[in-house]
Amino acid sequence: MELHPRDPGRTAWALPCLLLLALPGAGAQGGQDFKLHQPQDKVSVKAGETLTLNCTVSGSSVPGPVKWLKGWGTENRTIYEDTGSAPPRVTRAVKESDTDFTIHIRDAQPEDVGTYYCVKFRKSLSGGNEVFRRGSGTEVSVLAKPSPPIVSGPSQRAGPRQSVAFNCTAGGFFPENISVKWFKDKTSISSQLPQVTEWREKSYNMSSSVTVVLEEGDVLSQLICEVQHLASSSSLKGMYQLSRVLRVSPSVDVSTNQTSPIEVNKTMKFTCHVKGFYPETVAVSWLENGVKIKEEKDSRPSMFRQGLLELKSQLEVQATEEKNGSMFTCLVVHDAQAPVNQSAILWIASPDQQGQNKGSQIYSVNLLIYIVVAVVCLVLVLLVAAILYLIRTKQMKAGKSSPTARLHEPEKSSEATTQESDPNNLTYADLNFDKERKTIRRMVEMSQQSEYACIQTNQAPNGDDNLTYADLDMVHLSKAPKRPAPRPEEASSEYASVQIPRK
Ligand SMILES: *[C@@H]1O[C@H](CO)[C@@H](O)[C@H](O)[C@H]1NC(C)=O
Ligand SMILES: *[C@@H]1O[C@H](CO)[C@@H](O)[C@H](O)[C@H]1NC(C)=O
Ligand SMILES: *[C@@H]1O[C@H](CO)[C@@H](O)[C@H](O)[C@H]1NC(C)=O
Ligand SMILES: *[C@@H]1O[C@H](CO)[C@@H](O)[C@H](O)[C@H]1NC(C)=O
Ligand SMILES: *[C@@H]1O[C@H](CO)[C@@H](O)[C@H](O)[C@H]1NC(C)=O
Ligand SMILES: *[C@@H]1O[C@H](CO)[C@@H](O)[C@H](O)[C@H]1NC(C)=O
Repeated sequence: MELHPRDPGRTAWALPCLLLLALPGAGAQGGQDFKLHQPQDKVSVKAGETLTLNCTVSGSSVPGPVKWLKGWGTENRTIYEDTGSAPPRVTRAVKESDTDFTIHIRDAQPEDVGTYYCVKFRKSLSGGNEVFRRGSGTEVSVLAKPSPPIVSGPSQRAGPRQSVAFNCTAGGFFPENISVKWFKDKTSISSQLPQVTEWREKSYNMSSSVTVVLEEGDVLSQLICEVQHLASSSSLKGMYQLSRVLRVSPSVDVSTNQTSPIEVNKTMKFTCHVKGFYPETVAVSWLENGVKIKEEKDSRPSMFRQGLLELKSQLEVQATEEKNGSMFTCLVVHDAQAPVNQSAILWIASPDQQGQNKGSQIYSVNLLIYIVVAVVCLVLVLLVAAILYLIRTKQMKAGKSSPTARLHEPEKSSEATTQESDPNNLTYADLNFDKERKTIRRMVEMSQQSEYACIQTNQAPNGDDNLTYADLDMVHLSKAPKRPAPRPEEASSEYASVQIPRK
């Protein structure tokens, strides 16, 4: 409307031109209240999510497209325009709207980081497009989560008590703030801050290292690198089995199934016990006096403890005499390390040793039988002794061998004894009478077989009435108290038994 007062001059000299210029003129006139609104200053989105960039226009429009540009100046790139083919990830929020030029960018990527401008172009006089209005720009940042952490260890295995360095890397994250924690199983390990380096535009990589002192039981242990970043709601973990880097050398022990020396021609079994090793690459061989005679091929290692392994190899040797003193060696090469060996010497018993061995073996084997035999013999001996004793006592009772002499008062037995026991005929008698003897009656009963000795006292008794004198060369009178007489006799009689040793 304001242009009209100027126009009459133009229309005067170029009417057709007026018609041509009327349209842009009217547009320029309509563009006066045109407003472009780009409300977002900053937008951040996680990588992979959809980015929304808002832009609305109002007021009377002018001919010319609305476009989205990334960057300004020489660095600009057209992200969206109605004509032309937009990148596949970009779509209009409200299709074919004349006022809402909001766009979505699917699957945001770190390279989407930048400042975006919503721009209204108008047709220039030259027929091209010129910038008519532009928004204040929206700064887009894409939170990119790190790639899954990867833990790497040394290329060589190491043994217990050795320190080993491990590295954890993750990349492609934005922003650059990141935290890294290390764990061995559940135990936290202290580490330095991760090193963060820029990798491509608006994307970072990090590297964290840690030193671990290996232990024998670490075959089952796990090293964990735990990464936390703004772009990831949960922590990301990288794992590393310490068994990949641990080497535990075996202990080697050679034992035999029987003690040395061994009898000739017997079989000696040597056992090589290789235990507590990791990894399972182990080669076991046997040497006889330093010469290889056997290589273990059949046995597979079995579980020992704490993830460590064990293996047994056996060697059977016939103990021929030539092998006396031979050395049998178990040679173990574990995981391409220096060989470990252990030896045993085969001793063969000499014949006399064999006898001893045999005797002792039989003794040990037949001990029971020997005890039984000994007991039986003992019983037999006792039995024989008892029988002999019984026979002997019987004989003694029979009085054959031990006749008893008795002293009688002369009046009673003088007639009977004078003929039988002539004083000259008397044998020496021992008058040690058993006080406890209660067999006097029986002795009397056996009087026929008994020998009686009579000591005759003088016809005219001496002063000692009560004593009978015997020839002291011959007999001793017992000092035992008076015995009851075998038969009722006069009180003045004294009896004494006399044992006459058998001749
Ligand atoms: C951006 O545009 C979308 C679609 O028109 C709308 O739903 C949303 O509310 C807008 N956001 C802002 C911050 O203007
Ligand atoms: C965009 O870049 C082109 C050339 O690279 C330039 O001619 C044009 O003027 C730029 N546009 C803006 C809005 O900076
Ligand atoms: C950065 O991390 C990415 C993704 O993990 C990887 O592809 C790239 O090689 C890394 N760059 C450097 C320099 O480490
Ligand atoms: C042991 O064996 C060899 C051959 O087998 C034989 O000649 C030798 O007599 C044997 N020795 C004994 C003590 O048995
Ligand atoms: C066995 O080991 C010892 C050292 O422990 C070594 O001197 C010897 O040579 C080894 N023997 C064999 C047969 O390898
Ligand atoms: C084996 O050697 C040992 C020691 O030299 C010796 O005592 C033993 O008698 C030998 N045995 C035989 C069967 O020769």
